[in-house]
Amino acid sequence: MLEVARIIGGGPLRGEVRATGAKNAALPLMAAALLTAGEITLRGVPDLSDVRFMAEILRHLGAEAAQLAPGTWRIRAAQVSHRTPYELVRKMRASVCLLGALVGRLARAEMALPGGCVIGPRPIDLHLRGLEALGCRVVLESGAVAVDAAGARGAEVDMGGPMGSTVLGTANLVMAASLTRGTTRVLNAAREPEISDLCDLLRKMGAKITGDGTTIIEVEGVDSLHGADHTIIADRIEAGTYLAAAAITDGDVTVAGAEAGHLAAFLGRMEAAGVRIESGPGFVRAAGRPSRGVNVATEAYPGFPTDLQAQFMAVQLTAPGVSTVAERVYPHRFMHVAELQRMGADIRLDGSVATVRGGKPLSGAPVMASDLRASAALILAGLAARGETWVQRLYHLDRGYERFEERLRSLGADVLRLPQSEMPSSLRSED
Ligand code: EPU
Repeated sequence: MLEVARIIGGGPLRGEVRATGAKNAALPLMAAALLTAGEITLRGVPDLSDVRFMAEILRHLGAEAAQLAPGTWRIRAAQVSHRTPYELVRKMRASVCLLGALVGRLARAEMALPGGCVIGPRPIDLHLRGLEALGCRVVLESGAVAVDAAGARGAEVDMGGPMGSTVLGTANLVMAASLTRGTTRVLNAAREPEISDLCDLLRKMGAKITGDGTTIIEVEGVDSLHGADHTIIADRIEAGTYLAAAAITDGDVTVAGAEAGHLAAFLGRMEAAGVRIESGPGFVRAAGRPSRGVNVATEAYPGFPTDLQAQFMAVQLTAPGVSTVAERVYPHRFMHVAELQRMGADIRLDGSVATVRGGKPLSGAPVMASDLRASAALILAGLAARGETWVQRLYHLDRGYERFEERLRSLGADVLRLPQSEMPSSLRSED
């Protein structure tokens, strides 16, 4: 059933929400469970459609994947097939991180090549180049990639690309190298906390990995890995989204469980805009509205995250003055701009740089979510707008935010999830 969100803008959000586990850690960690026949227990797993989808793919590959309790999953891959199901893999780009796990466990893998998506072209050339550097034979045929790792050995592998290092490419390399004979040095490794979380799980499974969190990760291959129990780190992007909601509504929101250190670039820009930020062990709090425009440029971690670009643009709309956004990770990730303009936003897009003239009144409008983070940004803008905002294609939101509207409501927002049939037909766009 298609659903929509109806937001009535107005009052400040106040109160506390607890961060869930990070989606972008959960997905590679679930894939890593394929590296062992032992039992992997993951805790703090967010309840998201992407997570359920990954579990379905794991089952197709022959693993048992069961949710034992809210947030707790048990995965056991006694047997694994090297062929990923085309129809499923095609639907979720993040499933590309199965490649490294299969190469590690079975020394071979077959996977449909992911296409581009609405945030722009998303090649996997660096993933494949990395596997080749390990000595894998990589063959592209009929839209699929086949990897044969029979001759693989530890090597020096550079994961840097024109847009910086690749996060899931680094995850793939580290997973494959964990069970590849010899020592692998990953240069220009992604430094994202989600990579460190993956390395933490792999170490619990018996892998020998050092250097994660820096640009050089060293992996000494071992013969086999075993079961482990691991709690996933808090979702920094989800936390940032709730903090943005506080700023947009001139509110006061505390995100419990959030790690300020993982959000330093974002919090720095919020403070520069005049939002009050307070943090301590296990919490981050944002209060008050932005008082001036600020410029941001997205970059790989520890830079400003591209996954908070759309939400921060919604904050910039409420800041008096001129702000700019330079998107340096996905130069085309601006689908939300046209929808925000429908709400009265003054944004000019010039290549990969958007100029926002903030502080002008926004008015509620029917808008269309194009991707996960854009849908969150539209809901945030709706909180700051006069009147009713309707967001269609809510399924994008459910890929990455657990019970988003319910949790916004707990902070005082007027947000409802409704069947699309309850949206006035005069406002509805064809889906
Ligand atoms: N790139 C290449 N070649 C490659 C791989 C990447 O040119 O082989 C380019 C990409 O096109 C992009 C840049 O390198 O311009 C960085 O892409 P990266 O590979 O790091 O992205 P990813 O690992 O596929 C993860 C997150 C994304 C997040 C990016 C960047 C997961 C499941 N996904 O994707 O999350 O935007 O890192 O931080 O971890 C989201 O959660 O909304 C989301 C899109």
